[in-house]
Amino acid sequence: MKVLLLFFFLATIIATCQGASHPVVGHHKPGFRSSRVPRYPRNSRGSESHKPGFNCLSWRLTVETNNIRDWAVVPQACLSYVGHYMLDYQYREDAQAVADAAYNYAKSTPLIKDFRNTWIFDLGDTVLSSLPYYAQPNIAFGGTKYNSTKFAIWEMKGIAPVVPGILDLYKKLQSLGYKIVIISGRSESLRAVAIKNLKNLGFINWEKLILKQTSDKGTTSLVFKEKKRNELIAQAYRIIGNVGDQWNDLLGEHAGYRTFKVPNPMYYD
Ligand SMILES: *[C@@H]1O[C@H](CO)[C@@H](O)[C@H](O)[C@H]1NC(C)=O
Repeated sequence: MKVLLLFFFLATIIATCQGASHPVVGHHKPGFRSSRVPRYPRNSRGSESHKPGFNCLSWRLTVETNNIRDWAVVPQACLSYVGHYMLDYQYREDAQAVADAAYNYAKSTPLIKDFRNTWIFDLGDTVLSSLPYYAQPNIAFGGTKYNSTKFAIWEMKGIAPVVPGILDLYKKLQSLGYKIVIISGRSESLRAVAIKNLKNLGFINWEKLILKQTSDKGTTSLVFKEKKRNELIAQAYRIIGNVGDQWNDLLGEHAGYRTFKVPNPMYYD
């Protein structure tokens, strides 16, 4: 009986502590989140999803599901909404939920004998986050048109933080026996800076880091990535899973037995 009482006592304390550390906001239930994710500064402004005549939450859902394509900038009415989404807890938790789903699939899938069981990662905003770049006032979370020169200057610094949940997923996939292949539309000239950035964040032992060569210039991301996957298949790699923040990472031939879309409402490639 004493043991039982002690158990209830401890259980109550644990439940109370968890409740206190989790902001409870409608759809956000205590216990259904991960505390492992690094925190960006919190912004206290409330929901701004619903503007007269324009629902930004619906817009975000529509772009994430690839129902709207080829959009150039975030709609003016949703700049503030997207900014808060990206900096507050929801983006981190959405990204973590994607990583959790990917891991659950990976661990429940038997590896294929005699093949190189492979997991594909895209790089930008799937592994390396460009949120610090997009959070700059003149970029406005994708509210201004993409400027490749400006972005390249930031990229060259190699200071990208990790996308929430992704390092943990990467390591867990490796311990399950998957080979990690990173395929990115970035130029080969950015290899050294990308490697340094990845290693600083704790990414090690990838099987391949495939970047765009001069000869690939002018090829769309979709065609380039499909071509690289076909080359892998010819070398006895089997693509079990594939994670990317853009639909062009996840469509085309040999995209993976399962694909996982990391949220990104800031731009469409
Ligand atoms: C892009 O950024 C560069 C570097 O900041 C700037 O010189 C150039 O004018 C920008 N281009 C456009 C079209 O805004």
